[in-house]
Amino acid sequence: MFAVTVTSFDAERPLEGLTLGDHAEPTLPDDGWTVVTVKATALNHHDLWSLKGVGLHEEQLPMILGTDASGLDEDGNEVVVHAVIGDPARGGGDETFDPKRSLLSEKYDGTLAERVAVPRRNLVPKPGAFSFEQAACLPTAWLTAFRMLTTRGQLQRGETVLVQGAGGGVSTALIPLAKAMGLRVWVTSRDAAKREQVVQLGADDAFDTGERLPERVDAVMESVGAATWSHSLKSLRPGGRVVVCGSTSGANPPADLARVFFLQLSVIGSTMGTRDELDQLLQFCADHSLAPLIDHTYPLPEADQALARLASGEGFGKVVVTA
Ligand SMILES: NC(=O)c1ccc[n+]([C@@H]2O[C@H](COP(=O)([O-])OP(=O)(O)OC[C@H]3O[C@@H](n4cnc5c(N)ncnc54)[C@H](OP(=O)(O)O)[C@@H]3O)[C@@H](O)[C@H]2O)c1
Repeated sequence: MFAVTVTSFDAERPLEGLTLGDHAEPTLPDDGWTVVTVKATALNHHDLWSLKGVGLHEEQLPMILGTDASGLDEDGNEVVVHAVIGDPARGGGDETFDPKRSLLSEKYDGTLAERVAVPRRNLVPKPGAFSFEQAACLPTAWLTAFRMLTTRGQLQRGETVLVQGAGGGVSTALIPLAKAMGLRVWVTSRDAAKREQVVQLGADDAFDTGERLPERVDAVMESVGAATWSHSLKSLRPGGRVVVCGSTSGANPPADLARVFFLQLSVIGSTMGTRDELDQLLQFCADHSLAPLIDHTYPLPEADQALARLASGEGFGKVVVTA
C-alpha cells in the first residue's frame, strides 16, 4: 500500500526525513485490532514533531505518520478513528491519564496510508453530516480543543477566553467551539489577515500577538508556548486559568512564578481527549451545526506538499490528505 513514513530525523529541516511510497500492509498486534481503509487524514503539528525526532527513537523507523483518520471499517461502516491507544488491561477510566498510552504514529503506525490497524474500541461511527475530510479533523485538534474548554478548563457561559494564535488547527477549533459554548472569545495573531479571518469565524475581537488587552480575561487557551506565555499570564484576572496543550514556539518560557502565586493563577495541562469526549464532541458539533474549517486538501501522493503547507504556518484551518 502507499504510505507516508518518517525514515530519519532532522530538527531544522523536518521534511528531509520524509519518504513516500510502497509500504507493507498493516499487521494486527492482537485480535482486538482491525484494519480501517483510510478515506481522509488531517495533519497536525505532531507529524512535524515526529519528523524532528520528538517522541520517536531511531530504532522505531520507518514509522507511518498521522494521528487522524476517517474511513471504512471491515464491514464498510463509515468511522472516525480515536487516536489515543490505551492499555486495555487498565480496565477503563480516562485513557489520557494512562501512563502507557500512545498516539497513533508513536508506537503503532499512523494514518497517512491507504490502510491503518487500530484497536476496534477506537472506532467511532462517523456522523453523516460530516464529509470524510471534515471528520478526519476531529480526533486530534478538535478533540484537544474540546477537552481544553470543558473537562480541563471548566469554562462557563459568559466568561471571556483568550485564544493564543489564530491559524493553527487547535485555534480554529477553539474559536467556534468556545462561541457555541456561550463564551466571549478573543484571539491573538501575528498576521493582520488572520485577525480578520478569526472574526469571520466568530471571534468577538482579535489582537496583535502580545498586544495589551482592553481587560483581563477569565481563561487563556495556550498552544503557542514561549512566544506568548508571558502575555498569557499577564492577560489573566486574579484567579484565572491558563490551559496549555502545546508549545509550537518553544517549551521553556520564563515561569513567572511570582505572577502565578500572587494572582493565584491555575496552570492546567491538557492532552487529546477520551473516546467518550470524542462522542460528546461529535454530538456537540451536530447540535450547534459546527464543522471543521479546512485550509487545503491534497491527495495522498502529494502528502509532502501538505506537510510543507503545515510547516509554513501560512494556513488557516486544517490541512487534509485524502487517500
Ligand atoms: N497536547 C495535545 O494533545 C495536543 C493536541 C494538538 C496539538 N497540540 C500542540 O499544540 C500546538 C498547536 O497545534 P496546531 O495543530 O494548532 O498547529 P500549529 O500549526 O502549531 O499552530 C500554530 C499556531 O501557533 C501560532 N504561532 C506559531 N508560532 C508563533 C510565534 N512565534 N508567535 C506567535 N504565535 C505563533 C500560530 O498563530 P498565528 O499564525 O495566527 O500567529 C498558529 O495559530 C502544537 O505544538 C501541537 O503539537 C497538542
